[in-house]
Amino acid sequence: MSIADVKAKHRVVGEEIVRHDAVEKVCGRTSYSADAALPGMLHAMLRRSDVCHARLRSIDVERAKAIDGVVAVLLADDVPNNRIWVDVPGQTLEVGALKSFQNVLADGIVRYHGEPVALVIARSEDAALAAVDAIEIDYERLPVVDDPGRALDDDAPKVHESGNLLTEWVLEEGDVDAALRDAPVVVEDSYQTQFIDHAYLEPESGLAWLDTDGVIVIRASTQVIEHFRDVAHILGVDENRVRVIAPYVGGGFGGKEDMTVEPYLGLAVSRTGQPVRMVWSRQESLQARQNRHAVRMRYRTAADEQGNLIAQDIEILSDGGAYAFLSALVLLYSTTCAPGPYRCPNVRIHSRVVYTNHTPCSAMRGFGGMQVALGYEGQMDKLARRLGMDPLELRRRNFVEKGDTLAIGQPLPTHVALPELTEAVESRMGPRPLPSGPDKLVGRGFSCNLQSYGRCVWLDDWSSAWIGFELDGSLVIRIGVPDIGCGQASSLVQIASEVLGVAPGRITIHIGDSALNPLTGTTTATRQLYMSGNAVLKAATELRDGLSEVAAAMLDVEADRVVFSPDGVHDGDEPDRTVGFPALIAECARRDVPWQRLSVFNGPKGAAWKADERWRGRVLPDFTYGCHAVDIELDRETGHVRVLRYVAAHDVGRAINPASVRGQIVGAVAMGLGQALSERVVFEEGQNLTGTFAQYLIPTAVEIPDVEAIVLESGEGLGPFGARGIGEPPVGPPIPAIAAALHDAAGVTMTVTPFTSERIADAIEGRTGAAD
Ligand code: MOS
Repeated sequence: MSIADVKAKHRVVGEEIVRHDAVEKVCGRTSYSADAALPGMLHAMLRRSDVCHARLRSIDVERAKAIDGVVAVLLADDVPNNRIWVDVPGQTLEVGALKSFQNVLADGIVRYHGEPVALVIARSEDAALAAVDAIEIDYERLPVVDDPGRALDDDAPKVHESGNLLTEWVLEEGDVDAALRDAPVVVEDSYQTQFIDHAYLEPESGLAWLDTDGVIVIRASTQVIEHFRDVAHILGVDENRVRVIAPYVGGGFGGKEDMTVEPYLGLAVSRTGQPVRMVWSRQESLQARQNRHAVRMRYRTAADEQGNLIAQDIEILSDGGAYAFLSALVLLYSTTCAPGPYRCPNVRIHSRVVYTNHTPCSAMRGFGGMQVALGYEGQMDKLARRLGMDPLELRRRNFVEKGDTLAIGQPLPTHVALPELTEAVESRMGPRPLPSGPDKLVGRGFSCNLQSYGRCVWLDDWSSAWIGFELDGSLVIRIGVPDIGCGQASSLVQIASEVLGVAPGRITIHIGDSALNPLTGTTTATRQLYMSGNAVLKAATELRDGLSEVAAAMLDVEADRVVFSPDGVHDGDEPDRTVGFPALIAECARRDVPWQRLSVFNGPKGAAWKADERWRGRVLPDFTYGCHAVDIELDRETGHVRVLRYVAAHDVGRAINPASVRGQIVGAVAMGLGQALSERVVFEEGQNLTGTFAQYLIPTAVEIPDVEAIVLESGEGLGPFGARGIGEPPVGPPIPAIAAALHDAAGVTMTVTPFTSERIADAIEGRTGAAD
């Protein structure tokens, strides 16, 4: 069936329905985690390290404890299990190199500026703040590792006893050295991306209390309610004694994938028995919560005279900061995506992530797959210039196709729409803009990418959903998914409505509760529409199958003639013969046919990964592909860049809600442009200098033009109705697209992000960034 035929059959899927959470959000009525309060609640705050590497000679808490209103001050020794394995969240499987540990409170040594040292619990925020300041820490300063390149030197100070190498991947396909030696054209360059922050509007926060049954309930801003398990391990209690509730989240972007306030709230409640609130300040959020990895890349790319790729030799060095968090998994994504969406017979990749005394790095939208886009696309543009070829023509020559395999052994199981995407973008861009004045230059750049959706297949990912009718014919979905603002819950309602006929307005969805909802896994990895969408689709379809038998008997037709519509079930051949949902459910009750369904959807499995082998195989379920284009105007004197026009095209397989899809694309482009042009977390000898949004420059509505999103629907994807994920994929291409536009405008090769005005002006002046 063609995609047009599929779309014609859909009634609700594909409609731009208004999200059920839209009105309350627009009116400012949504209750985020910090909006909740309880009578008698206490306030928890962290005393964080003032330095980035030191032995803690002593911590004196006596003055702090004496402050009026202070209830308790906890140190590492007060935490039942202070060192926890940062397992891949919610999973108990052995995944070897992906495992790492993290301390709840500093245990003898602090390894980054802002590391939590003590937990203060007080009756007021003022008392908590005073106590935090009154804690006296005697530091014995240790040598600082603030350069990932030098972290691996033999004489480098060690961040951890085990050494500074956190994880490493080495792989080679074909004979790269021979190919590079014999190739007619080889281009080479280094690229570097910066640390950036998630910069969500809602900082880390939560409220926790002890329920009547002795369960600790944590209502927190999180992408992962399954962290109830990690909190239970920290407290040394059974997993079922901790419950995590995720209300609507004011931005996650990966920054709320690891735990933030949860362990501290759990500790504070278990210590006091009182309700406790914790809200991190913007300074804490910017200085001490995990960043996006800064990555250094070295690429050598060889091609024949026609522009067919022959070899890629890629080195990646990622700064993981002071603790492992999800660095190993992030590096695996970098390694998988490093050659880009291009065929190449000879590929070598050596990737490493190292410990330094920087703020730890972990998940952020694009998760290691986005930084390398600057490398592989920078190389394609350089190669095109060397060969005198059109940059999109060069790419089209080399695009991977469905059925191909990436260098790591990753198969590409669905349609690769890159040729259509490049054509769509090219034709939409139309004529080039003209400069607005004599000191202005204009330039256009294109970029393509691939980015995965769904979690690493080694994790045996799954999601579950419960769907049931109420007696009045309305429908309820119970599903653990945290909605972090992308419309996760709303899309699931649309899917259930499509299958069961009930109008979206008559469906209620209960989400984000680890005790009362079927678990769904993390809202990360661009996986909720894919995994939980499939779980809802499965539950709804199975429920419909059961109800169809009953409806068929009531209508006196074969089951396959029963149609589900907003008014109930009817005979497909005679639509006037209808049975309303209340009558249908009443009949189900009489016949002992269930009118609810709990279903589990399982993701694809990969070949078993072994730590001690040269492993090759499937890492990820599938990818979403994209092509972006940008027009910029550049001030020759100041280096200031104005983005004139931005077009971004992605194949999403099937758009469940095209408005939500466009929202993800526009938002991700804004985020990518921020990384390309202005954002950076700044360190000086390991000290994090970034404490406010006055210093950390996220783009505003003034800097971001109207982004035009082109939503292509190939009909192929692993999600419900052939959908692919779109949350993360559009964040990567803006950086290489801007780099290409800068070269087009001024002949400068920009390889170090952010491309600030100063750096661009320097490059134009010939001080850096030699033209080629
Ligand atoms: Mo993510 S960066 O997998 O929330």
